[in-house]
Amino acid sequence: MCGIVGVVGNEAAAPILLDGLSKLEYRGYDSAGIAVRNNNDEFTIVKAKGRLKDLQEKTNDGLAVPGTCGIGHTRWATHGEPSEINAHPHSTDDKNVVGVHNGIIENYQELREKLIKKGYSFYSQTDTEVVVKLVDYYYKKYNIGPIDAIAKTMVRVRGSYALVLMFKDFPGEIWVARKDSPMIIGTENGASYVASDVPAILKYTRNVYYIGNHEMGRLTKDGATFYNLDGEEIKKDLVEIKWDAEAAEKEGYEHFMIKEIHEQPRVVRETLNTHVKDGKIDFSEIGLTEEVINSVTGIYMVACGSAYHAGVVMQYVMESLARVPVRCELASEFRYRNPILDPNELIVIISQSGETADSLAALREAKTQGIKTLAIVNVVGSSIAREADYVLYTLAGPEIAVATTKAYSAQLIAGYLLSIEFGKLRGHLDDAKYTELIKELETIPDKITKILEDKERIQWFSNKLANSTDIFFIGRGIDYAICMEGSLKLKEISYIHSEAYAAGELKHGTISLIEKGIQVISVLTQTDLFEKTISNMVECKSRGAYSMGLTSYGNYSVEDSADFTVYIPKINPLFAASLAVVPLQLLSYYVSIERGLDVDKPRNLAKSVTVE
Ligand code: M6R
Repeated sequence: MCGIVGVVGNEAAAPILLDGLSKLEYRGYDSAGIAVRNNNDEFTIVKAKGRLKDLQEKTNDGLAVPGTCGIGHTRWATHGEPSEINAHPHSTDDKNVVGVHNGIIENYQELREKLIKKGYSFYSQTDTEVVVKLVDYYYKKYNIGPIDAIAKTMVRVRGSYALVLMFKDFPGEIWVARKDSPMIIGTENGASYVASDVPAILKYTRNVYYIGNHEMGRLTKDGATFYNLDGEEIKKDLVEIKWDAEAAEKEGYEHFMIKEIHEQPRVVRETLNTHVKDGKIDFSEIGLTEEVINSVTGIYMVACGSAYHAGVVMQYVMESLARVPVRCELASEFRYRNPILDPNELIVIISQSGETADSLAALREAKTQGIKTLAIVNVVGSSIAREADYVLYTLAGPEIAVATTKAYSAQLIAGYLLSIEFGKLRGHLDDAKYTELIKELETIPDKITKILEDKERIQWFSNKLANSTDIFFIGRGIDYAICMEGSLKLKEISYIHSEAYAAGELKHGTISLIEKGIQVISVLTQTDLFEKTISNMVECKSRGAYSMGLTSYGNYSVEDSADFTVYIPKINPLFAASLAVVPLQLLSYYVSIERGLDVDKPRNLAKSVTVE
């Protein structure tokens, strides 16, 4: 959480910083700030509570803050309330060191007390002010220069950080350090950039360095130099980013979320095209060999939020097609429950950002125990992608809306491909079935397009839900997994309380909540379970529920028990999540709009959860 950006070059820095922050606002948006050095080497620090637009207004879109070297930050509060005083950048009283930070310094209280004893005072409640002043302390005490002062600080702090600093004595230079929080460095045409994520600098450069854990860097307009903790210079290769700059823009859509919903046919197609060659799944680039696949005795799918929901779908599909035992776990639980792992198991970490703190920690826990790890990741070069043994990239491109849509869809495709390949190589799918399943996957993009063409019906129905206080989603098997995702989408952007329930569990408690007018959305795509879920729908309806059914064309009997029915094209039920999720994404989107909420930046949330 929190977005950081920095630039040093020949152009005015503030407009570039504000533009970069606008691409990072999804990472946090309770306050923002910039610090820029003018030609006299003085720092101007401007901060504003609230959305970035407040900072833009306060700085006249950056024009009021001259200088060509600066840093910026958009905040998701961890230590200290959202306020101007707690907003970054933070600085020492003499402006010797000015910095922004993404992450958490766990021992900041202890360090703060130490610094107070050394004569420092603190104006904010943040851990960042502590780390900036600690750098200053080492810098002045030992007179050793930025790299050594930062290195000493890195050894002393516990926690995670992407730290971007400017020193009064080093005009035209930006200093960076990283541990466990994302950071990329870009360089092009007499300017260098640092950011939490690619979209912030994509307009200016496609050439980036990935800075590793416990590494530092120095940026000037001529390029970047990197150092290890011992202060020795290290070499890094520039990596070209293939994403289009336009991919991080709204391109005429009112919100990123609706744009990203519409991108799903393309994203699914691209993910398929990347991993399927001439009708056959090709994981050769991933290094996932037949030998590895056959040696696996069990799989853990580990993830958070929607990625976890994708994992729940994969669990059903993998067990069905490959007959491998699969367990899907929340990363935040997995990492702390001391899991008993077998060396022949495979841990699959699913993550859009590749930076989610709990998922990353789960990956490391597995690696510590010597278990093979495979990452299904969207962001190229992210921490999870770099640390996993095998990486299966989803081709979703930059996802900006906090509520994930296209990345979830791409994750499902990756999971299907993995399941089909496991099924084939482990002897559970013959050639004909293998080919048939791949062909079925290839129909998904057009089927999603068809669903999107009918979005006005969903928009109309969203009116009926806009004033709800409680909405229940029920389904069985994969339909239950779809319900989990539909329910999360709704609550995160519409703030309506909602629960996903395994339909068979209703009678074990939840049905007592059903009364006249309560809305129940039933998902019925699983042919084998259809009649069972219909019975549960009827039970809700007869207790007064207002009911929506989501099913495949042909299942018209749903209309007998639903007040409103949404149909999706027919598909192998194992892949139905890819279609059924789309109307639920649209529904959440339109309900949020109807309620006048900020769809792309829901309250209290951030896109990338890099703290526990
Ligand atoms: O980047 P990740 O896929 O690891 O993120 C996991 C969750 O934080 C994420 O899916 C979150 O639940 C989304 N906001 C849901 O829309």
